[in-house]
Parts: sequence; C-alpha cells; structure tokens
Amino acid sequence: MRMRKKPNLEKRMNETAELLIKSPENNKGSWRELFPGYEKLWLELGCGKGRFTAGTAAENPDAFIVAVEKVFDAMVVGMERVKAADLRNVRFVGSDVKLLGEMFASGEVDRIFINFCDPWPKSSDAKHRLTAPDFLRSYASLLPIGGEICFKTDNFPLFDWSEKVLREEGWDISFFTTDLHKDGINGIMTDYEAKFHAEGIKINRLVAVKTEKTLTLAAGPHERLRDASLADAIANILKAREEEKTRAKAEAEKSGEALK
Ligand SMILES: C[S@@+](CC[C@H](N)C(=O)[O-])C[C@H]1O[C@@H](n2cnc3c(N)ncnc32)[C@H](O)[C@@H]1O
Repeated sequence: MRMRKKPNLEKRMNETAELLIKSPENNKGSWRELFPGYEKLWLELGCGKGRFTAGTAAENPDAFIVAVEKVFDAMVVGMERVKAADLRNVRFVGSDVKLLGEMFASGEVDRIFINFCDPWPKSSDAKHRLTAPDFLRSYASLLPIGGEICFKTDNFPLFDWSEKVLREEGWDISFFTTDLHKDGINGIMTDYEAKFHAEGIKINRLVAVKTEKTLTLAAGPHERLRDASLADAIANILKAREEEKTRAKAEAEKSGEALK
C-alpha cells in the first residue's frame, strides 16, 4: 500500500499501545488462554486501516480477532478505530504474514480473512500473492479440518487464479460469487471495498474450507506456479469476451438471414 507517512505515528501508536501485541511469538499455542471467553479465534491478514476489523469485531463478540499488518501507518488507523469503538475482542500484530507460523500453533485458528490483497500481476511475483500455494500451506497448518479462508477482491484475474490454486491445493470452495453486492451491501466492507463498490466495481468473494486433502507445510514448498501471470489472464478474459461477441453477432446474422 502506498501511503504518505502519517504525522505523529509514534504518539498515536503509544496512545493505542494496549491493542498491539509486541511479541506475538510468546502467545503461540496460548492465545485462547491469554484471551479467554471467546468461542473462535480469527485472523485478518493485511488489515490496512481496519474498517473491516472493527466492524467484524463489533458484529461478532464471540470471536477474538488478530489483525496482522506490516505497514504501521495504516494499522494505527485501525487501532484508533477499535479504541474509539471500545472493542475488547481485537488485537493488532505489526508483522509480515510470512511469520504466521511463529505466532500461531497448528489448529489454533478457526478462520482467516484475506481482503483485497496486493495482486502482484507479474508471473515472477506470483509467490508474493497472499493466496499463493506456499502461503496457503502455511494457513492450512494453522487451521483445523473445517477451518476457513474468506477471501475478497475486486481483481477478477487474481480471484480466478486463487480459486484454481485453492482447488489444486485441496481446499473445498463452500461459497463463491463474482458480484457480492448485487442485491445490496452484503457483509462488512473494508476500506478498499467501499471505495471500489462506490466506483461500480464488482466485488468477488469466496470461502475455502480445509479438508483431509488440503496440503499443509508438511507437503514441503510448492515447486512451480502454472499460469501465474495475471496480465495473461486479463488478456485471455478480454479475448474470450471478444470471441463471444463475434459468435453472438454471427448467430444474430444467421438467424436474421433465416427469417428473410
Ligand atoms: C490493498 S491493501 C488492503 C487493505 C485492507 N484489507 C482493505 O481491504 O481495505 C493490502 C494491505 O495488505 C498489507 N500487506 C500486504 N502484504 C502483506 C504481508 N505479507 N504481511 C502483512 N501485511 C501485508 C499491505 O500493507 C496493505 O495494508
């Protein structure tokens, strides 16, 4: 996320310090004991400015939410929102998602939210996508069977690619839409989502469920990413649309001739 340096970052971080977990690795395997009274432990990856974090925490008082974000300038806005709403069931971790395995034990997490993650369109950067196989294996290692990843994005090529990768990695898809807000606002919006929705951009959402077949870190690192370029995917979608238009035109002409 490109963002101007927020003024008074240090002061603002100090004012919301009770919401920050400074050494999350100390909580590994003990999150539920350290924060008792909640039925579920949910993670949000790349929470940005925390609109979804605060909204989800307010709507789900039985869930304890850990929001992970590597850019403090963005995260502090989320911390301020949570503090202003006096929500007790949220903590923030200022870290890279790559380090999740050091912070959470196997099967400790019930659900993971990934909202509007960076698409990394180049094939050579595909491994950085938060839905790339090695990331998915690390998430699978934290979730029990039946645990979920809830994924939203405006970027259809990323969505399409992610769905394929999830299926290849042995996840079941229990929910899938390419137009989440078709019949009105559905669920809690993130900051990016609200902006895209206001611009008329369709929002994609899926829920992936861990099964017995889902690959975890025990499978080792993923070797090769097929069809990883989203630029190619965009070109393919445009080409398919053009072909469809040509086909429809040819059919219309044919039926017009038949009527003559
Ligand atoms: C496009 S923004 C979306 C923010 C928010 N989820 C939303 O929908 O409004 C992506 C966010 O993910 C964070 N991010 C990307 N890669 C990350 C990583 N590997 N670890 C932690 N945060 C990451 C970025 O810093 C950025 O804040």
